[in-house]
Amino acid sequence: MNILSFAASNSRQSINKQLVSHASLMLAEQIDTEARVETIDLNDYEMPIYSVDRENETGIPAMAHRFFNKVREADLVLISFAEHNGSYSAAYKNLYDWASRIDMRVYEGKPMLLLATSPGPGGARNVLKSAAESLPHFGADVRGTFSLERFHDNFDHDEQRLVDPNLKAELIQKLSELTKSQQAAA
Ligand SMILES: Cc1cc2nc3c(=O)[nH]c(=O)nc-3n(C[C@H](O)[C@H](O)[C@H](O)COP(=O)(O)O)c2cc1C
Repeated sequence: MNILSFAASNSRQSINKQLVSHASLMLAEQIDTEARVETIDLNDYEMPIYSVDRENETGIPAMAHRFFNKVREADLVLISFAEHNGSYSAAYKNLYDWASRIDMRVYEGKPMLLLATSPGPGGARNVLKSAAESLPHFGADVRGTFSLERFHDNFDHDEQRLVDPNLKAELIQKLSELTKSQQAAA
């Protein structure tokens, strides 16, 4: 099983990248030891801001195709969303806008678990809710969501793992439901 994971953030210290990397590792170590996980970094997919004029003049950048193909090759996708002013980070939105010009159903048929975290009590729930509602329109098979509030209290920076056993159990449960849904479909 090929798992693609990434944080929808371009911060080098991204807390969402830490969370999604932890979730990916839990999946590969505790749920499906044969799974192959690839965690990509949005900084490797930075492109000019999408515009219709740019697209008409120079076409869709190769990087957008690279991202699109990575999604298409994956069996499962995990994304952890950074919340910027209640919505997606510009880095993710730009990448998604370019990729959607190849085919708007970027996540076609992919079972997905959507995560989000923030330093505050909101746990980036606004962006998570909006992603969970909108991604199915773009082909995603959203199997669950997981919001982690107060990241710095709930995540051990040295150990790179969740502190609270209940939160950890909740995440494992959601990851395990996700892999079961993929195995059932295969
Ligand atoms: C421009 C900007 C807007 C933000 N807006 C929100 C917000 O609406 N809600 C929220 O919970 N946090 C907000 N934050 C704080 C982010 O949750 C915080 O920077 C977090 O670390 C982002 O995730 P990342 O580290 O994975 O990039 C904002 C941060 C920035 C820089």
